[in-house]
Amino acid sequence: MSTTAPESQRLKIVIVGHVDHGKSTLIGRLFYDTNSLPDGKVEAIQKACEAEGMEFEYAFLLDALLEEQEQNITIDTTQIQFRTAQRNYVIIDAPGHKEFLKNMITGAASADAAILLIDAHEGVQEQSRRHGYLLSLLGVKQVIVAVNKMDLIEFNEEKFHALQKEYTAFLKPLGVTPSHFIPISAKHGHNITKASAQLAWYKGPSILDALESFSLPPSQDNLPLRFLVQDVYRFDERRIIAGRIEAGKLKVGDELVFWPDRKRSKVKSIEAWSAKEPVTSVTAGQSVAITLTEQIFAERGQIASHADNGPVEDREVTARIFWLHDEPLRHYGNYTLKLGTQSVEAHLVTINNVIDSSTLTTSKEPSGLVAKNEVAEVVLRTRKPIAFDNRDVVTETGRFVLMQGSRIGGGGIIHGAEYNAKTPDIIKSENIYWSEGEVTREDRITHFNHRGAVIWLTGLSGSGKSTLAKALETTLFVRGIGAYVLDGDNLRHGIASDLGFSAADRTENIRRAAHAARLLADAGLVVITALISPFAEDRNKAREIITEADIPFAEVYVNTPLEVCEQRDPKQLYAKARAGEIKGFTGIDAPYEPPVKSELELPTDKLTKEECLARLLHVAQEISSADYPDKEEEKSPGASI
Ligand code: ADX
Repeated sequence: MSTTAPESQRLKIVIVGHVDHGKSTLIGRLFYDTNSLPDGKVEAIQKACEAEGMEFEYAFLLDALLEEQEQNITIDTTQIQFRTAQRNYVIIDAPGHKEFLKNMITGAASADAAILLIDAHEGVQEQSRRHGYLLSLLGVKQVIVAVNKMDLIEFNEEKFHALQKEYTAFLKPLGVTPSHFIPISAKHGHNITKASAQLAWYKGPSILDALESFSLPPSQDNLPLRFLVQDVYRFDERRIIAGRIEAGKLKVGDELVFWPDRKRSKVKSIEAWSAKEPVTSVTAGQSVAITLTEQIFAERGQIASHADNGPVEDREVTARIFWLHDEPLRHYGNYTLKLGTQSVEAHLVTINNVIDSSTLTTSKEPSGLVAKNEVAEVVLRTRKPIAFDNRDVVTETGRFVLMQGSRIGGGGIIHGAEYNAKTPDIIKSENIYWSEGEVTREDRITHFNHRGAVIWLTGLSGSGKSTLAKALETTLFVRGIGAYVLDGDNLRHGIASDLGFSAADRTENIRRAAHAARLLADAGLVVITALISPFAEDRNKAREIITEADIPFAEVYVNTPLEVCEQRDPKQLYAKARAGEIKGFTGIDAPYEPPVKSELELPTDKLTKEECLARLLHVAQEISSADYPDKEEEKSPGASI
């Protein structure tokens, strides 16, 4: 058997094809012809066959090899290796392994090259097509199509060319261009490692020559760092963060950002219990444990990167899904999305382009379902933010699986995500200090005779937020209370003019609005915000930003049913959204998460404007009152006595 070459020196190949198209025989042959079998193995099997009166078959070699491996628990039984003078090869996923599709799609196995096997006698089958599609989906670029069992069609050149034409036409629209079409007979050893007299009309390389001409995958070390946190252990005072480097390099002293939380710290040490010398750097493919200079909160599921080259963080993932489960994938269904060590609840919000993977036909009528073996472009919305990459940037963090209950339902490949132009809540500048003014909060309260506060209105577009906000502003103002409206549309003319309506942009919009409100309230004003703020988590974050500055905050749900908003349609935007002219419009094809517990709810379809205003005024007066307890007093009543 071959010795183990370093990971980087091995070409991982996958051999796929219809059942019975000769995978085991081909592998047996490759092992035999490259002398990669243990000494005496072939003779032993030949003898056993003779004793049983059976014809010797190369496929038996593979069976024997797998059997042997199964007894050796340290070897992954789905991977077998053979060696040439040039390099080592790993065949991932042994033929006959039922989990093939699943392993390929979930990334349990990833291939640098593929051999697609077709039976010359039977021709291109449904599975041949599906496998072709899968390779295109997985981005395997180095592909050989081996037309096997040429002996059964008398090594006929025309038939071979007809098959080549048929399969090339199928693969072309998929973007799969085979490097070679090779006529072979695995059973008789034609064109496996050497040319064949019977196939003299074929001038191309043998299977092995073609494999040797393929390139090794580029090193993962040069990619951006992705350290996937598996576990956090506490030892004495120390916290040890264990995980795997999927891409890039990590060294002591590096500043890391942990996504999605974006907490930062520097690597203090790399713990390597077995190493004699202290380890100061590690590279892709290694599992490591590290300690940090600051004890930040880190947990399983996070991805650590360097500060300037992080993954995408979002709650919306656009992906191509290959569905494997008998039960179809459903529009609006809830699934668990697993990506690296992250596991989050996800909601399927959009299904586009459902394609049957064997016929390549696109369903004309959207059924809202993706059946087994179909591929679809989908958008998933996760319950909380997750970190990920586009598949073509980092493979491992660019794919995920969707669980259907406790079983894998399908695999997804992420594309088209925008890298973080925005880096909220990371303080980028160094050496900055908060500068306290000489005018204190108390001075302002005494001067204005009320305190600053934030009334946060949330609700659908057209629900009446702006109207109520303006009415409240006027009412407070005439009563001598300094008030100011921060309206979503207005902020989007300036502070937020670079933002659109994607989930990430809305999150950033709310973050900026919250910080603006905090500053104005700190100046002593009662700030009334009027933004849709559709996500509960963003609103909670806004509450946090404001209350952490000891500024009173009240969330008000302007609860107007969608039908009513749509009837009012003051800016004619619902009409446009329904006509498909605006994409991702809240309430139509983008979600709104109603507050579960707000300080006030205003059902505007049941109350008059005056009634709404009276309730708002009550809350505003209460929380902006000079006597309203600030946080400290609330915590320890009587402390000031
Ligand atoms: S939020 O979602 O980020 O809170 P914001 O309140 O700032 O939204 O802006 C909402 C306003 O932008 C709406 O009242 C509407 O006038 C306009 N708008 C334009 N496109 C959209 C869209 N796709 N979804 C929602 N509002 C939109």
